[in-house]
Amino acid sequence: MKRLLLATAATLGIFSSAQADVFVNGDAEAGKTKAAACAGCHGVDGNSLLSSNPKLAGQNAKYVVAQLQYFKSGERDNAVMKGMASGLSDQDMADIAAYYSAQTPKVGAADETLVHRGEQIYRGGDKEASIPACIGCHGPQGEGNPGSNYPALSGQHEDYVRAQLYAYRKEQRVNPKADIMMGVTRYMSDKDIDAVSSYIQGLH
Ligand code: HEC
Ligand code: HEC
Repeated sequence: MKRLLLATAATLGIFSSAQADVFVNGDAEAGKTKAAACAGCHGVDGNSLLSSNPKLAGQNAKYVVAQLQYFKSGERDNAVMKGMASGLSDQDMADIAAYYSAQTPKVGAADETLVHRGEQIYRGGDKEASIPACIGCHGPQGEGNPGSNYPALSGQHEDYVRAQLYAYRKEQRVNPKADIMMGVTRYMSDKDIDAVSSYIQGLH
């Protein structure tokens, strides 16, 4: 049965050749059970209540798997998540990612005093300051781009977003592909990071 499904998927071209060797099919039902260990921090449906813990609801499955691999290998440095990811197999990661990606993110609100500048940066960037627009990769509604493995940002906690933007700018988040975001944040001021983080919290 599994072989038949894989053969069908291959015929439909669901696997691109570059990913075929690492791609594990996720089972959202199995993932729901496995994600019980994560619920205390990320919420039962991936909508975490604490603003320092990222929402995972609606996140692209491939991005979630990639980050779990980085935590496990230590390429993304976080002691708590290293501990959590170390016990997960490739299949566990794929199942959990399938579950979270099928959930709906709960969107928050942006600060009215910051939203104008935040929207400017998100949608248009700032040419003079060498800040590219976020929309090109993260999408008009913050939906991300699963094909290119760009994460969804829609409704993500402002505090988490801000912490990640600082970490990229300080070159502390250095997992593979982080170089893109190091470049994006290099010339961002603290004020601009605050504004765009607030905007993203309300983005949908
Ligand atoms: C004790 C709290 C805690 C638990 C339990 C926990 N996490 Fe996390 N998780 C965090 C924190 C905090 C971060 C942010 C780490 C950072 O700042 O880099 C995070 C980050 C992540 C990320 C990266 C999200 C992104 O947008 O880049 C993923 C994926 C993730 N966790 C999945 C899981 C899974 C799957 C489990 C269960 C197996 C789990 N977490 C359990 C606290 C927790
Ligand atoms: C050229 C494409 C591109 C552009 C432009 C871009 N990003 Fe990203 N972004 C990425 C990629 C790729 C990642 C994942 C990197 C990684 O794995 O660490 C990412 C990750 C992020 C994250 C971390 C998400 C998480 O869940 O941990 C945040 C926050 C973010 N971007 C915000 C922004 C903001 C704000 C802008 C505009 C100022 C922006 N990005 C512009 C490609 C882009």
